[in-house]
Amino acid sequence: MKVSIGSDHGGYELKLEVIEHLKERGFEVIDVGTDSPASCDYPIYAKKVAEDINSKNADLGILICGTGIGMSMAANKIEGIRAALCHDTFSAQATREHNNANILCMGARVVGPGLALMIIDTFLDTPFSNDERHIRRISMYS
Ligand code: RB5
Repeated sequence: MKVSIGSDHGGYELKLEVIEHLKERGFEVIDVGTDSPASCDYPIYAKKVAEDINSKNADLGILICGTGIGMSMAANKIEGIRAALCHDTFSAQATREHNNANILCMGARVVGPGLALMIIDTFLDTPFSNDERHIRRISMYS
């Protein structure tokens, strides 16, 4: 599986830990930036990860900023994107099964790295249910 990941300065340090973890797990990782802890604008990276998803250059995406909120707002403005802000494993599992979320958003100032990696593993390891009622509901907004 190929994962596209992006962050702003608020998520930069956590993103580095996540990339290391994903590579250890054998995922192919596309890092769209940011490339330093210098202040930057999160929508730039939300758009880059969304482009990777929509072009099928990546299977799933991860976006990290300080809260995860700005990233999720920016990503969800882009057609084809179903970005879910999750800070617990239950939501990460449910949003894959029910919403077929294609981007996980997280806030590095909200969760520590241990929980963040568990949430990411849950998101990446959970398939969409393919349940008819969930397909219908998703089609009503995408
Ligand atoms: C940057 O300070 C911060 O606003 C950003 O990382 C994010 O939390 C926005 O939603």
